[in-house]
Amino acid sequence: MISLYSLLAASLISTTEAHSNHSETSLPPSQDPFYAVPENISAFSPGEIINHREPPSRISTYGWTPTHIHKAYQILYRTTDSQQNATAGILTALIPPDADFDKLLSLQMAEDSATIDCGPSYTMQLSSQTTPRFASNTTALQLLFAEAALAQKWIVIVPDHEGPKGSFAASKVTGHTVLDGIRAAKQSNHITGIESNAKIGLWGYSGGAAATQIAITMQGSYAPELDIAGVAMGGLSSLAEASDIFDINKGPSAGLIPSAMLGLASQHPDLQKAIDEALEPQFRDLFYSPMHQCLQAITVLFFHQDVLGMFRNDSIPGLKKELVRAWKKENDFPLSKVKAPLYIYQSAVDHLSDINRIDAEVRDYCDEGVSVHYERANSTNLSHVKYGIVGVYKAISWMQDRLDGKEASRGCVTHTDTTSTLDPNLAALFPKNISDALYAMINGPL
Ligand SMILES: *[C@@H]1O[C@H](CO)[C@@H](O)[C@H](O)[C@H]1NC(C)=O
Ligand SMILES: *[C@@H]1O[C@H](CO)[C@@H](O)[C@H](O)[C@H]1NC(C)=O
Ligand SMILES: *[C@@H]1O[C@H](CO)[C@@H](O)[C@H](O)[C@H]1NC(C)=O
Ligand SMILES: *[C@@H]1O[C@H](CO)[C@@H](O)[C@H](O)[C@H]1NC(C)=O
Ligand SMILES: *[C@@H]1O[C@H](CO)[C@@H](O)[C@H](O)[C@H]1NC(C)=O
Ligand SMILES: *[C@@H]1O[C@H](CO)[C@@H](O)[C@H](O)[C@H]1NC(C)=O
Ligand SMILES: *[C@@H]1O[C@H](CO)[C@@H](O)[C@H](O)[C@H]1NC(C)=O
Ligand SMILES: *[C@@H]1O[C@H](CO)[C@@H](O)[C@H](O)[C@H]1NC(C)=O
Repeated sequence: MISLYSLLAASLISTTEAHSNHSETSLPPSQDPFYAVPENISAFSPGEIINHREPPSRISTYGWTPTHIHKAYQILYRTTDSQQNATAGILTALIPPDADFDKLLSLQMAEDSATIDCGPSYTMQLSSQTTPRFASNTTALQLLFAEAALAQKWIVIVPDHEGPKGSFAASKVTGHTVLDGIRAAKQSNHITGIESNAKIGLWGYSGGAAATQIAITMQGSYAPELDIAGVAMGGLSSLAEASDIFDINKGPSAGLIPSAMLGLASQHPDLQKAIDEALEPQFRDLFYSPMHQCLQAITVLFFHQDVLGMFRNDSIPGLKKELVRAWKKENDFPLSKVKAPLYIYQSAVDHLSDINRIDAEVRDYCDEGVSVHYERANSTNLSHVKYGIVGVYKAISWMQDRLDGKEASRGCVTHTDTTSTLDPNLAALFPKNISDALYAMINGPL
């Protein structure tokens, strides 16, 4: 059976061939004037639309254009950065054929990168997929999740939630970008057809769940007028403190350490300075590589690497202190109770999330009176990535009820999910080469 990896490799080759006509090119966002923050940005109100266009290149995943994407638009809108200064965000609106224009899902894609060039608005386009440093198997996979939502006739918006500086791990700019993206979508009827009173859902897995969670946590203070019908999040982060990221040093995801530190530093000059002072000069270029490569390439580059060993060893305590300080500043917004019902899905086996901490997070929501459906998967065959795929269909079913206007049950329900197989309803949405590769991945070692 063909693996997702070889499918992606094959799609890169066929994309290169398709490209020999030079008919579909688009610039990386850092060089594309469409993405530039306008000089008069503070004259716009949060969520106000600044500009829009159709994506310059076709949307593509594993060499395939999802069949339920009828139309796509990129929308530039005003949002607010972590220092409370006005800035601009980008979202991609995906419109299915026969769309229900009164159902809007904001899908936060895990991006886990430190540059705007890894934003999904760019990595979902065919023209980015010929450049290995921009290749994104996480975007490819999550576009399959988007296809599952589009097949329900929902409009799907995908914000580049790290903002114009690729501020991975910076809560404030992330939450603002998600919430202002929803505001922009509700004002986009003349472009997208979305109704201003559409029912709203939020969804994200892994890094996308972290962005979703921060958005709903700050919604009451930043965008209290939004009425959110339901929120699905899975593979949540269990980090209690920013410096806990050092725990994954020398592991398979060690590349998240430089990406998160640089992402946070993009909003915090003091952290930037501390990093520069602590880095051993011979590791400087390597450590800074997330500024021009996306997660997939960074994962390979830092696989099982000793990232902390790249710093002068007397500098680690000081660096930790700056990290903690920056993280605290990112999370010092006024707390407000989450009003929307939640669907939280989590595999007990997950190298990025500690199940005991996720259980505790769920208990905290319940104690606050939030309605939670907790889908807790216990198969030992699962992993962080596998449950991201296995869990899709149930998350969609729960969201369907919310967007249909059915009231979520009050209080908290925990359900044990014993499945570790791909739902055939999900597989049926994709061409055989892709569903075969998904089956192979779920049954394989990863
Ligand atoms: C997978 O199949 C689809 C549909 O036939 C095709 O468009 C796509 O190019 C294929 N992908 C690869 C990598 O062969
Ligand atoms: C490239 O050009 C050839 C010959 O003109 C055409 O058949 C093919 O469809 C083109 N491919 C794309 C992706 O435009
Ligand atoms: C911002 O500047 C642009 C270009 O100069 C102008 O068209 C637009 O009306 C301005 N917007 C606001 C809200 O001032
Ligand atoms: C952003 O905000 C900070 C503090 O509020 C201010 O000092 C700084 O000048 C602002 N930056 C820009 C580019 O406006
Ligand atoms: C993406 O590629 C990286 C590097 O090869 C790999 O470690 C990771 O498991 C892949 N993820 C997915 C979702 O395919
Ligand atoms: C720093 O690390 C080196 C190499 O691991 C070690 O030999 C040295 O003792 C360490 N110094 C301190 C102050 O920890
Ligand atoms: C998972 O939960 C089910 C239902 O509670 C139980 O029967 C099964 O033994 C559990 N499996 C594991 C691996 O713990
Ligand atoms: C786990 O995978 C093994 C090997 O593929 C299989 O035999 C077993 O039935 C699976 N267990 C579950 C709970 O699905």
